[in-house]
Amino acid sequence: MVAELVVAGATTVAVGRGIATAERLLPPRPRSIAAVVAQPSTARLARGLARGLEAGGTRAEVRVLPDGEAAKDLAVVAGLYEWMAGLGMSRSDTLVAVGGGSITDAAGFAAATYLRGIEAVYVATTVLAAVDAAVGGKTGVNLGAKNLVGAFHHPARVVVDVDVLDALPPAVRRDGLAEALKAGLIGDEALVALLERDGEAADLEDVVARAVAVKAAVVGRDFTEQGERAHLNYGHTIGHAVEVAAGMGHGAAVAVGMVAAGRASALEMGFTGEDRQREAIDRLGLPAAAPGLDPAGVLALLGADKKRDAAGLRMVLLEAVGRPAVRHVGAATVEAALDAVEIA
Ligand SMILES: NC(=O)c1ccc[n+]([C@@H]2O[C@H](COP(=O)([O-])OP(=O)(O)OC[C@H]3O[C@@H](n4cnc5c(N)ncnc54)[C@H](O)[C@@H]3O)[C@@H](O)[C@H]2O)c1
Repeated sequence: MVAELVVAGATTVAVGRGIATAERLLPPRPRSIAAVVAQPSTARLARGLARGLEAGGTRAEVRVLPDGEAAKDLAVVAGLYEWMAGLGMSRSDTLVAVGGGSITDAAGFAAATYLRGIEAVYVATTVLAAVDAAVGGKTGVNLGAKNLVGAFHHPARVVVDVDVLDALPPAVRRDGLAEALKAGLIGDEALVALLERDGEAADLEDVVARAVAVKAAVVGRDFTEQGERAHLNYGHTIGHAVEVAAGMGHGAAVAVGMVAAGRASALEMGFTGEDRQREAIDRLGLPAAAPGLDPAGVLALLGADKKRDAAGLRMVLLEAVGRPAVRHVGAATVEAALDAVEIA
């Protein structure tokens, strides 16, 4: 079965097994060009897709970018522009990004800006890309700070082949499951129940389709982040500080951040789901605490966090599962939240 969702009236997201095929990416379009961009771990998949596109009459060329964050670099993107120009790509051609969030972000930014924007199609090959990075139209590269330069540009299509996700290294898979749990906590009680029950063994087809539906609903109502889109940052305020201070992976840090935000939610809004949230985090093999960190260092990082303003620290809290709200929290609540994740 293939689940199809439409995001913001602009992107069709297909989630299913064995669906990373050329036919899913582009209708056969003789004489058009597809620039297929991959990372080292997806180069084989990308080459296979390019062969399929060629068989359908589309000229397809593959370019492999450096792995991970190294792809999100203006010099790398400049290389993409030159390559696409050299291929003679016009506005009616397509960039196909095959990979995790670093590839959809970097190649997506190239698609957003080359000739003022060409069609982008993503094959999201990590859970994180499938449930988060590939959906919602944010693209960008790092310049000193993370994602300092970017553009909003919806891909036309996103393909998530769950067979590809099932084969991911466990650590990469887990990283994305933290964001799937976050999606459940802010917008889908049944997704939380599923992750709580099955943990890491949860059927990714269901998990990804449900998490994408949450993000699609939020982005559909607030594309440019004027308000509700901020709810997607649940667990990210303290999570980001922990990511930097502990050098932890993003997903693990978000898990810790959600435990902290859960405590703040209990104190500020009477949230009663802390145990459920922690149970799901445990079952996903994600950490619920970050012991050994210097609280002053974490507080300093929170002070530099863009979510802080004059009235206190701005955090996304939960009144209940599926009922997020943005609130300013004072020092005592922040301290209690850090204490809940053993930063004390
Ligand atoms: N645009 C957005 O809205 C948004 C949202 C969240 C995150 N992001 C960005 O996404 C990035 C993180 O995404 P990510 O974790 O997918 O990063 P990533 O692309 O670096 O992938 C993580 C690792 O998984 C490997 N990998 C990818 N596909 C694989 C496969 N099929 N088999 C084996 N290994 C594979 C990659 O080579 C890499 O080493 C960050 O740069 C972040 O800023 C963007």
